[in-house]
Amino acid sequence: MNIFEKGWCRFFQKAIYVCSPFLPWRQPEILNFKEGIKDLPEFIEKKGIKSVLVVTGPNLYRLGAPMPIIDGLKERGINCVVYHDTVANPTIENVEEALKMYHEGKCECIVAFGGGSPMDCAKVVAARVVRPKKPVSKMKGLLKIRKKIPTFIAIPTTAGTGSETTLAAVISNSQTHEKYAINDHSIIPHYAILDASLTVGLPPKTTATTGIDALTHAVEAYIGKSNTKETKLMAEKAVKLIFENILKAYEDGSDITARENMLKGSYYAGVAFTRAYVGYVHAIAHTLGGFYHVAHGLANSVILPYVLDYYGKSVYKKLARLADITGLSKDGDTDEVKAKKFIQAIRDMNKKMDIPEKFEGIIKQEDIPVMVERAYKEANPLYPVPKFMGKKELKEMYMKISG
Ligand SMILES: NC(=O)c1ccc[n+]([C@@H]2O[C@H](COP(=O)([O-])OP(=O)(O)OC[C@H]3O[C@@H](n4cnc5c(N)ncnc54)[C@H](O)[C@@H]3O)[C@@H](O)[C@H]2O)c1
Ligand SMILES: [Fe+2]
Repeated sequence: MNIFEKGWCRFFQKAIYVCSPFLPWRQPEILNFKEGIKDLPEFIEKKGIKSVLVVTGPNLYRLGAPMPIIDGLKERGINCVVYHDTVANPTIENVEEALKMYHEGKCECIVAFGGGSPMDCAKVVAARVVRPKKPVSKMKGLLKIRKKIPTFIAIPTTAGTGSETTLAAVISNSQTHEKYAINDHSIIPHYAILDASLTVGLPPKTTATTGIDALTHAVEAYIGKSNTKETKLMAEKAVKLIFENILKAYEDGSDITARENMLKGSYYAGVAFTRAYVGYVHAIAHTLGGFYHVAHGLANSVILPYVLDYYGKSVYKKLARLADITGLSKDGDTDEVKAKKFIQAIRDMNKKMDIPEKFEGIIKQEDIPVMVERAYKEANPLYPVPKFMGKKELKEMYMKISG
């Protein structure tokens, strides 16, 4: 990347940063129900809503996880249509199918139930409801919706994406294998339910990778150049909670305190990155999701330590602070030593949770040039990364993470 490109990126990021306080930021209202999701139908009834679209995924539906909502709505005479075909790395087809059901059911409210995949699919359905003439492909990027969406309730069942509080939705085009983010304040959910009991059945492997996704959000936001006081605080809280609880939740899925802390950590990380952005870890991870359907959390888990190594000196100070917070530092350690301890701790956590060090046999050499282009475009000029990667450095990164 030459000096003019770098200058342009920093100018663009600064302009967004300066305008940011004037944008319509909000957080979802957290619904603290006594009986968890069982109480949601009554809440919906009191709002006078007559018809609801529930968006979820096939596994959760098979497990019956959203049934307390679906049955409760029906018992109250509220029409409820259920879209349960959302795939991991949700596609434009998923959005269009669910949108059709929304219209056929004359719905007025969307309940997103699941991990980031159903939540993101549902967010884009809501966007399409209010922007019927704009195809999903035209929503890519920043502020393409700018219209109030129908009542939207997000219920995360993974402690990972933080999608219940972010302005983002990530969608894949199954024809071109492109996976991209749609970022707009209007798709921040209106309400969220953070019920850790819903995450108890999450298998250890998914607990691990979705948890490192949340850690990646916090770390990428924290080391970026567009932090506010609040995003820094949120990222620090998230990193501490995740470091202290991820192994507990991985080893004993029924440890409800660990699950609660992971859900909080993932939420705080969402609050941090929705405003302070992510970085190259995500830009690269999205290409692997688009090309090879690599689960988002797994992609981030593998890539995170490599990208932190690449940032080098530019992140020592901030990672040193995270090492202090997580109790990794010792008296007399320099920032460099602390930062390296922090990166090593991520590698150690990955190893303990059986996360591979590289993508053995997944990345095809012939795909790398297109993935480099896409990751470059996703990250630059938008992400306020601590140190830039040009196409050459991105290519080297793909080589490093390939098996
Ligand atoms: N919108 C955002 O701000 C944001 C942020 C990060 C990632 N994402 C996107 O979110 C998607 C990934 O979401 P995810 O990591 O939460 O995974 P996911 O939603 O794809 O779910 C992963 C798997 O876990 C299963 N699962 C989910 N909850 C479960 C539970 N409680 N019990 C048992 N199984 C359960 C699902 O059925 C699925 O098979 C990606 O597309 C990613 O790009 C979005
Ligand atoms: Fe993520």
